[in-house]
Amino acid sequence: MAKDVIIACDFSSAEQTLAFLDRFQGRKPFVKIGMELFYAAGPQIVRDIKARGHRIFLDLKLHDIPNTVRKAMAVLRELDVDMTNVHAAGTVEMMKAALEGLTREDGTHPVLIAVTQLTSTSEDRMRKELLISSSMADTISHYAANAREAGLDGVVCSPLEAALVKESCGDSFVTVTPGIRFADSAADDQVRITTPARAREIGSDYIVVGRPVTAAEDPVAAYDRCVREFLGE
Ligand code: C5P
Repeated sequence: MAKDVIIACDFSSAEQTLAFLDRFQGRKPFVKIGMELFYAAGPQIVRDIKARGHRIFLDLKLHDIPNTVRKAMAVLRELDVDMTNVHAAGTVEMMKAALEGLTREDGTHPVLIAVTQLTSTSEDRMRKELLISSSMADTISHYAANAREAGLDGVVCSPLEAALVKESCGDSFVTVTPGIRFADSAADDQVRITTPARAREIGSDYIVVGRPVTAAEDPVAAYDRCVREFLGE
């Protein structure tokens, strides 16, 4: 499994995003386009960033009835991204529908992963507000097993849970982990977090890093620090 750092480009306009990517001066980091940017700039921003040669994780976290998700994924298929996702809470049937919609005529598809529990959700809130009485670990393992049963390639989870997912779903099951913070940076609204180096030790395949890079005084240096800590380069 190729390991890499994905930058969460959580900006509210195409101009801001392209100006941010310009700072990398010809280098092509793997980027994540989430709801904020996609809703602000539309599908064209995906085409534009792809045309610049970046790999793209389109993080729209689909969660709806299976028929709607299948049809939405068939539309997203045309954008030819490298990775995209759904919420595992949408059920195995919904995840299967997502995969069907995303699959190209030749049978290939972008990496499709499922969000287990958001990295901003604590076990306490999951119990009290979502009425999920299992532990966070059991919930993540179970949702990951559902994703695997549906034929998905992996999950989004906290780096703290990557080893657990590998244990229950196998080493080739992809773990994409947001909730990354440098030892000396703020947690913001994230709860289940760790550092790039620790994420590597636990078994993340891809770390997703947003504010520690995008809000840094020198984003390129912060990205390089992430790569160094995560890939040990
Ligand atoms: O700025 P920060 O590093 O917290 O950004 C994390 C990114 O990962 C955000 O774009 C957020 O939407 C996304 N994400 C997450 N937790 C998940 C799935 C996605 O934080 N479980």
